Amino acid sequence: MKRIPCLSALAALHFLLLAACSAPNGQPQKGSEVVAPNQVVDFDTLFKENCSGCHGADGRGGASIPLANPVYLAVVDENAMRKIVADGVRGTSMPAFAQSAGGLLTDEQIDAIASGIFSRWGRKGILDGANPPSYAAKTSGDVARGEIVFGTYCATCHGSEGKGGPKGSAIGNDSFLALVSDQGLRTIVITGRPDLGAPDWRGNAPGKPMSDQEITDVVAWLASRRVASPGQPYSASNHANPLEK
Ligand code: HEC
Ligand code: HEC
Repeated sequence: MKRIPCLSALAALHFLLLAACSAPNGQPQKGSEVVAPNQVVDFDTLFKENCSGCHGADGRGGASIPLANPVYLAVVDENAMRKIVADGVRGTSMPAFAQSAGGLLTDEQIDAIASGIFSRWGRKGILDGANPPSYAAKTSGDVARGEIVFGTYCATCHGSEGKGGPKGSAIGNDSFLALVSDQGLRTIVITGRPDLGAPDWRGNAPGKPMSDQEITDVVAWLASRRVASPGQPYSASNHANPLEK
């Protein structure tokens, strides 16, 4: 008679131990399973592993623009963004991530990243009443007018002809221009670089937001200054001795 309660106490202990392990013998505990890389759909993990190196931790900006910029997210076209993530931007360091374009991410993962960027960092109504310029240019732009626009809105910070100025870097530099796309330039003119103190299209000249056409024209002017052999001081396309200026 005395043994029975003892046995059942042991059995109860056994049960408790099993419950504490919360998994039947031999099976991995919850959280310890290794998820195959192409099964990861958690936004934070995907962004950290694929994007933050260039767009900054939590999308706050780095070598490239911050994606956690509600002004950018109110202007960018969602399908255009998805396509950029999938196919990359040719001629720049923005890689293609879709498997169909040689990348490592599945379509489901690209969807998770793109929709996560909007739901995490977008802010509805941020541009209410601001009449923002269109994300993509509607025309090819006028180079001569663009030069005047640059003088009005950009030279105060970036110097005449974009040689660098008191507050902004040398964006007319041929190596810089060789590494950025026209849309990349347009995006920065529209959204600024809030992470680096660059104003958006409303803040370049006090009380004078840039028009859509002015943005298109200034990008056309910058694009016209690309050279065939960037960054080569002794190449045929740029034979002036920089020391003689
Ligand atoms: C090796 C650096 C690098 C990595 C990694 C990278 N990007 Fe980019 N990304 C860039 C650069 C540079 C540009 C600007 C390209 C240009 O000039 O148009 C860019 C542009 C973009 C744009 C377009 C901005 C615009 O003009 O509308 C989006 C959206 C974007 N990246 C999202 C991502 C996402 C999401 C990831 C991760 C899945 C990622 N990027 C990873 C460098 C990178
Ligand atoms: C009030 C000063 C100011 C004005 C005006 C201004 N910018 Fe900037 N801009 C900055 C700052 C600050 C940065 C970030 C640091 C840097 O790269 O110079 C920047 C960055 C940029 C960049 C990115 C450079 C890079 O390294 O990635 C581009 C492109 C640019 N500006 C274009 C323009 C254009 C075009 C105009 C005129 C339409 C303009 N900016 C007007 C201050 C200004």
